[in-house]
Amino acid sequence: MDLEPESTCSDNMTELESALKTVAKVLENPDSKVVFFVGAGISSTSDGEPLIPDFRSPGTGLYYNLAKLNLPSPESVFDIDFFEDNPKPFYSLCKDLHPAHSKFAPTRFHYFMKMVNEKNDLVRVFTQNIDCLERETGLAADKIVEAHGSFAEEFCIKCKKRADKEKFVEQMLRDEIPKCEYCKGTVKPSIVFFGEQLPERFYERLDVDLDQLIDVCIVAGTSLKVHPFASLPSEVDNKCLRVLINNEKVGDFQENPRDGDLLAIGDCDEIADTIAGFCGWKQELDAYVDLHKTKQHAKTAVEMVEDMKKNKNLEDKYKGKEEAKKDSDVGKVEDVAELLLKLKLEK
Ligand code: OAD
Ligand code: ZN
Repeated sequence: MDLEPESTCSDNMTELESALKTVAKVLENPDSKVVFFVGAGISSTSDGEPLIPDFRSPGTGLYYNLAKLNLPSPESVFDIDFFEDNPKPFYSLCKDLHPAHSKFAPTRFHYFMKMVNEKNDLVRVFTQNIDCLERETGLAADKIVEAHGSFAEEFCIKCKKRADKEKFVEQMLRDEIPKCEYCKGTVKPSIVFFGEQLPERFYERLDVDLDQLIDVCIVAGTSLKVHPFASLPSEVDNKCLRVLINNEKVGDFQENPRDGDLLAIGDCDEIADTIAGFCGWKQELDAYVDLHKTKQHAKTAVEMVEDMKKNKNLEDKYKGKEEAKKDSDVGKVEDVAELLLKLKLEK
């Protein structure tokens, strides 16, 4: 077998590097208008550690693993007709994804988007994700369009009334199917299922946002398989620079590539980090990520202390006996709890 001379690793590196330098050049201009179209791949790993599985990656994706269950198709778990008949499969997943139960921290890529908002004219982040991690960075809600909804609210699928969040969470945590307190219909988080309309805000913002000249549109962590979102990159003006940051070439970048499209095939966090480096933002980006990690630790510690305080032995100890108040360990626990709670409130 004859071997064609292949492009070497360093050739590829140079190609990627030059693509990322081009992106950085646009971002160095504070007036640059930027739009993001993102999906599950921006939350799948955080600095190389697994975070929230995406949907379609072989081996790790949610649909890949749901194929083992006895569902008409893996997507049925997010299908409104299927849910009306059988909400159980969805609720067996919901707890692990719901921010009230599973606390995930934004990734480096999420913070990169926040930095673009600070350094450029961020027009909007259109996200398919329901994990609310864009908001979690502190990015203002009006900069974000959650095209597939989110776990922010819950509604009854029958009478459409909004459910009480606390009751919903209680039922979900008890592994019950949350029911409406008015009509006993099934309650569903406000995420968009197959067979449901996308929020009006998605169409409203899209009309206005893409009507202006965007300098760069960054598509990241999405397979561009679900419409109408998948068609967004094809709707930006021809003068707009399109960038794909993804593990694989997808959608319009594959089917209708444009001259000047930039392909950054690789990990979202790593690529965001490299671009930030070229822009001179690296230290600030690191600081955001580190700050969040510190706060996460503080939050975990607060929860530990709260649990300790709930612990019966400890409660008995400082409820019942006067000398317990003098007990230095309890004193320390309370001081630490107060300090950490303060930190939590400051978040
Ligand atoms: P997919 O799972 O379909 O696609 C994720 C894409 O990100 C794939 O192309 C992966 O190769 C890539 N990827 C994963 N991890 C990455 C990483 N760390 N760095 C770079 N690339 C990475 O997820 P979405 O496109 O978001 O809808 O899926 C779209 C919609 O399908 C979801 O919003 C969901 C689902 O059905 C609803 O639930 C309504
Ligand atoms: Zn109801």
